[in-house]
Amino acid sequence: MCGIIGYIGSKNPVEILINGLKSLEYRGYDSAGIALKEKDKIEVVKSIGKIVNLEEKLKNEELISSHLGIAHTRWATHGRPTVENAHPHTAGNVTLVHNGIIENAEELREKLKNEGVSFYSETDTEVLAALINQYYKKDPIEAITKALNEVKGSYALGILFKDREDLYAVRKDSPLIIGIGKEENFIASDIAAIIDYTNQYLLLEEGEIAHITKDTVEVIKDGKILDKKIQTTNLEKDAKDKCGYDHYMLKEIMEEPVVLEKTFEPYLQHHLEKLPDLTKYEEIHIVACGSAMYAGMIGKTLLEEYANTKAEIDVASEYRYKNIIYNKKTLVILISQSGETADTIAAMRKAQEHKIDTLAIVNVKTSTIARESDQQIFIEAGPEIAVATTKAYILQVGIMALLAYKTALEKNLVKDEHHVLEEAKKLPRLIKEVLDRREEYKKIAQEIYKKEDVFFIGRKIDYATSQEGSLKLKEVSYIHSEAYQAGELKHGTISLINEGMPVFAIVTDDSIKDKTFSNIEEVKSRGAKTIIISNEHWENQKLQVTVPKISPYFQPLLIVPTLQLIAYETAKLRGCDIDKPKNLAKSVTVE
Ligand code: G6P
Repeated sequence: MCGIIGYIGSKNPVEILINGLKSLEYRGYDSAGIALKEKDKIEVVKSIGKIVNLEEKLKNEELISSHLGIAHTRWATHGRPTVENAHPHTAGNVTLVHNGIIENAEELREKLKNEGVSFYSETDTEVLAALINQYYKKDPIEAITKALNEVKGSYALGILFKDREDLYAVRKDSPLIIGIGKEENFIASDIAAIIDYTNQYLLLEEGEIAHITKDTVEVIKDGKILDKKIQTTNLEKDAKDKCGYDHYMLKEIMEEPVVLEKTFEPYLQHHLEKLPDLTKYEEIHIVACGSAMYAGMIGKTLLEEYANTKAEIDVASEYRYKNIIYNKKTLVILISQSGETADTIAAMRKAQEHKIDTLAIVNVKTSTIARESDQQIFIEAGPEIAVATTKAYILQVGIMALLAYKTALEKNLVKDEHHVLEEAKKLPRLIKEVLDRREEYKKIAQEIYKKEDVFFIGRKIDYATSQEGSLKLKEVSYIHSEAYQAGELKHGTISLINEGMPVFAIVTDDSIKDKTFSNIEEVKSRGAKTIIISNEHWENQKLQVTVPKISPYFQPLLIVPTLQLIAYETAKLRGCDIDKPKNLAKSVTVE
């Protein structure tokens, strides 16, 4: 959600900034802009829509030659996606780009208006630029500090001053790193944006201001220069290439066997010893957003069903504001690919304020959630570029399955320990087998791509899996889709079933298969076109996918890849912008 890149060095920044913005496209955006600086001139070019529109505009402008610039992709929050609202924003001496939300922007806008400041945009960012400008009396650090003291909300900022040849950066609750190069330095929302130029970076913490020149980076806190540790990323340069696939989404789905093996390895090698012991807790709260929440739903089902452990699941945007009745022996598990989702961060901090232990299942090791949670389990997804998560979701589910299994083991609820761990080792091969059956998924996509409404049904764990299948389909193909507990459909929703309407039924849980099958018959008799995704073959069923049967802990890990590929193929037939669905953002850093 919003992307920032900044450059200072001996090269012309335009190409570097545009490449950086393209690497950040996956975060979601609806306009883009760039500011170039040379001597006392700052030139700003902005456009709505895709980055190619900005490139076109840049081609038609006579740009100043420059060695310092900032650029931004904006995902609209305050004000519509227009050129005026796009970043960078300028007020007097100050030009800046911003990721986050200034919560007291309107109050500050009124105050500044009373001081004679006028505004051209509807954004909170312009207010911030104006505020810093009001305080700017030739000392950037002083102006930034004074302005931010008045600001409530979240921000990552890249700031230029008209009369200075350097770059400033500061952040709070929004990601921003400083890339360290040779005779050049960078700022970026994530390392992927600058990996072509450097693998060295500094993490900026809350309250720190970075002063960046071509050759130096000073990080200042409370007037003192800090001794910050330079870190090296092991992100490969080609990790952000599509490697021959048409879309990142497809590439990332195909990576699932490899990343699962990598994620499971340390745990399977040591008989799950390295996983935390959940038995010391009386109840588990799993909190997350979007697909991560659906991964948590599978975790909750497994913990309750097989480990006899009380588990609740909540969306973070609700959890953060609800009256949570904590038990001293509660553990809060936060699931987040990015580790920067604003609501999930807030849920974590709420638990910590109540002195409740937090455990994060997270992909980005440098993220806020990774750094602030009490314990972490890292998934090894590598960078995930497509907005709709696929491989990270699979790993979140995989880790929840191992945690539930370990808990069941500790509670002596497992009869055949050897069997489940052997099944876990087979998973990468079995997922690959499922992924290799693309022709089957293409056929199903052909059956549904012209429809506008689809249902998914399932019971117990199959309902949790249905939720993710439904979300994946709607977010990438824009087909309206809903997931229902199979037994609940007849309490109202069945009235929507009509001739030819696709209904996906997920049927893997042996204890409840017959019941789901009756529900399938109910929708069939009302004209539904049923598509059964199961771990057994069903007689007299035209459209079906049969995946290998495996331990129930891992069965969703063979079902979801089929649903992801069906969503992908359907979106492709509908000509959708698969990697960047409209209105969506990869990392939702505002609430
Ligand atoms: C956004 C993404 C989803 C993701 C959710 C949570 O909505 O589009 O794919 O599941 O955020 O993100 P997180 O980084 O916390 O897992």
